[in-house]
Amino acid sequence: MKNSKWYLTSIFYQIYPQSFQDSNADGIGDLEGIIFRLDYLKELGIDAVWLNPIYPSPFKDAGYDVADYKNIASRYGNLEIFDRLIREAHKRDIKIIMDLVFNHTSNEHPWFKESQRIQKNRYSKWYVWCLPFKSIDLGSGSWARWVSERYDSYYHQFTFYQPDLNFGFPDLPKEYGNSYDDPDIKALREELKSVVRFWLDRGVDGFRCDVADWLVQEKGKKGIHEYTARFWNEVREVIDSYGDKAFIAEGFCHVDDILKCKFNGTFFIPQCWKLLCPYPMGREEEFSWESFFSPEGGDITWFVEEYFNEYNQIIGHDGMISMISGSHDMPRMSYICKKDKIIKTYFAMLLTYPTAPFIYYGDEIGMRYWENLPSKEGACFRAGSRTPMQWSGEENAGFSSADSSKLYFPVNEDYLERNVEKQKNFSDSILNTVKELIKLRKSNPSLGPFAGIHHLHLKKEDKTYIYSRYDDKNAFVIALNPSDTPRNITIKLDPGKEEFTYARYLVPKISSDRTPKIPVEKGKLSFQFPANFFAVYEVVKDRDKR
Ligand code: NOJ
Repeated sequence: MKNSKWYLTSIFYQIYPQSFQDSNADGIGDLEGIIFRLDYLKELGIDAVWLNPIYPSPFKDAGYDVADYKNIASRYGNLEIFDRLIREAHKRDIKIIMDLVFNHTSNEHPWFKESQRIQKNRYSKWYVWCLPFKSIDLGSGSWARWVSERYDSYYHQFTFYQPDLNFGFPDLPKEYGNSYDDPDIKALREELKSVVRFWLDRGVDGFRCDVADWLVQEKGKKGIHEYTARFWNEVREVIDSYGDKAFIAEGFCHVDDILKCKFNGTFFIPQCWKLLCPYPMGREEEFSWESFFSPEGGDITWFVEEYFNEYNQIIGHDGMISMISGSHDMPRMSYICKKDKIIKTYFAMLLTYPTAPFIYYGDEIGMRYWENLPSKEGACFRAGSRTPMQWSGEENAGFSSADSSKLYFPVNEDYLERNVEKQKNFSDSILNTVKELIKLRKSNPSLGPFAGIHHLHLKKEDKTYIYSRYDDKNAFVIALNPSDTPRNITIKLDPGKEEFTYARYLVPKISSDRTPKIPVEKGKLSFQFPANFFAVYEVVKDRDKR
């Protein structure tokens, strides 16, 4: 299946702006810093950048508490610099997508300040208010009591500092705005849509929509709420009037919900988390599972099954599932992978899978998760994944020329060994592996999102996973053995591929464990896999020998 929509075939890079590049020596990353590093992203092969929120904010949740949707936090720059960032990115054929945080605002947003007033006004119903003592059980959120001049309680699914916006929560009393068609609720929607227009007018290429499936809750109702879907449909209309823009949902949604909301894609976050982490942080006692990408190895069949359940549904609807290497919300991949070689096996899967891959800044050099790093801006355990990008062995890893005591987060002390400059010069580095894999993916649509996949070796309680990717022209076999156990495996090629005569080991620069070409005998290939190993083979016919 072919599709020309850019966001379905792009390789995305997530930038946590605080920690990417500081240009003015205040210890915090900024937009000028991102502009300065665009050439690096281009060289890596990145097509699009997702920026975590850069709006003015009191930063009680690192910017996911927006105090003004139509401006830039002064610590990152201003609108003029933002416009330049868009221009400079576009010059290099890199798209920029913004974070759209519409489930809640900051409690310092002027709308919320007005909404708290006892006198009725335009904003009174814009948040989820309820009579004191009459809190409604809406699921996971909480009610903040005794905090406002108007005496009511307000609902917040995240922190106390992030009051939820009201899209017509049906359980509220009527005078608090319990209908989607209430004129005040409609006015809120219009305002939010004007936010979308504001950024599209400046040239942004789309949005990642924060907790997209949680906007409205109703007692006893499961799944995406009808009002949530109606709202995103309205936003979609605005977006469509600007052409080909990305509209990607963050949330734990299933594909049918995504389609109801008319998103083009969704992240596969809980599953990628589970793939890269043995438990939710702080809940080790309650949950634990084996992680395939760990030295101990584990099962991957559940992932493949869940992934293709969703993928097969979305692919016919202009949609894509995005796998991630990590994010600002989870421990870095290095936490579970432990070894660089295992990190590479994960990237081999991410970049040869039918997905729209997202790479979290710093994962391309295997930056470490810093356990127990003291929290900042509401980070808690996430702090360890938000340390400054390690560019070089220079002061503060080339991230900032501020005094190190002023840095947003301290630089991980392994920066002298682990940094971009160093990895550039070392052909077997994670950075060069990622670069090679991206190059390979881009020059072979059969490794991209729409080509076929066959699971050639996929077994429960097996630590090796082998699959093929193919289209009419090429066939690739990708073998992943992240575990510490070497393996000998014979696989049968896909039916119809018997005419292939050997498997050619590709991307040789990226592994010292070179394997010679392997003959195909009666449609079978026998591999010997070292521990912590991945390989990408092209299966070829004799006459195709290159
Ligand atoms: C999801 C974001 O990724 C996370 O960082 C944030 O805390 C919550 N949404 C609330 O906005």
